Amino acid sequence: MTLVLGIESSCDESAAAIIRSDRTILSHRLASQIEAHQPFGGVVPEIAARAHIETLPDMVSAVLQDSGLALDDLDAIAATAGPGLIGGVMVGLVMAKSLAMASDKPLIAVNHLEGHALSPRLDDADLAFPYLLLLVSGGHCQILRVNGPGQYQRMATTIDDALGEAFDKSAKLLGLGYPGGPALEKLAQSGNAAAVPLPRPLLGSKEPHFSFAGLKSAVLRAVESGRYEKADIAASFQVAATDCLIDRLGFALRQIGSDSGIQTLVIAGGVAANQHIRGQLTQFADDNSLAFSAPPMWLCTDNAAMIGWAGVELLSAGHKGDPMNFKARPRWPLDDTAPAARGAGVKA
Ligand code: KG4
Ligand code: ZN
Repeated sequence: MTLVLGIESSCDESAAAIIRSDRTILSHRLASQIEAHQPFGGVVPEIAARAHIETLPDMVSAVLQDSGLALDDLDAIAATAGPGLIGGVMVGLVMAKSLAMASDKPLIAVNHLEGHALSPRLDDADLAFPYLLLLVSGGHCQILRVNGPGQYQRMATTIDDALGEAFDKSAKLLGLGYPGGPALEKLAQSGNAAAVPLPRPLLGSKEPHFSFAGLKSAVLRAVESGRYEKADIAASFQVAATDCLIDRLGFALRQIGSDSGIQTLVIAGGVAANQHIRGQLTQFADDNSLAFSAPPMWLCTDNAAMIGWAGVELLSAGHKGDPMNFKARPRWPLDDTAPAARGAGVKA
């Protein structure tokens, strides 16, 4: 059995965890920086990087202590090496490099998106490759065929905003604070989803991708019109966005056909914490004779357990470690063979 320390620092969460290859989470800590960024209505990269510097050293000591392990007991040190806010990524990666050098253990430079993509397998031992993954976070909205660690085939991406970004921006328009996604979901619970006519961009399109910029603009117009209750706008937004997800997943399924070997639909990333989306996807999977797998809520949003687990998966797939001069990558697509989608602001 292998033991991996995972470190996460790509956005506004500092986290460390120790994961064993039998899926045991020996220890796990997470410090959210919500209060530091709240006055600014979003994440301030410089504040985030400084907070990671202040938090991570003690946090790593704490997870070692919690699990009763010494650095020497570990098999590898894994850290997010991108994509993300570059200052923060560098803090976690440099820390992992130092620990790896001091203990003479391999460094594993983890793609944060791979952390999300493999996170459902940390919780679900029966989830086998290949699976169809809807990866929805603050920076990404993609459909991927996951064939194994390091093996991703991107089927769809967003041509403008990521879904989490659309949630956050719409929440801001509705006067909700940061972080917007969970706040918008909460407000939507008391709203009427049929009250506000909102567009479903690219619904039925022959192009595989997502688009959310038009939906966000429609939210702006609905707010400015003064004609609707905020809760109704939130509920209508959530349902419109979910309709887009379902439509695009249907398109992806038709493209891969029935003999693809895919038996499970998986959702991961921060937006996967949304209960409405989880419910609709469960139904969609059922309608398409697929099993459905979603990580527990705390594993959907950024954390270090998924980074440690990605390290475990990569080690067991034969990865020997990354060089000490591995550079932090602000952009790092999971499938670097995928052609760029049309439009400006394409997310990797
Ligand atoms: O994966 P994540 O924690 O960080 C990134 O890698 O981006 O995702 C954060 C995103 C944010 O946009 C946040 O608003 C969204 O996930 N999010 C949600 C919910 N919880 C988090 N969006 C909708 N409903 C939620 N319950
Ligand atoms: Zn993330």
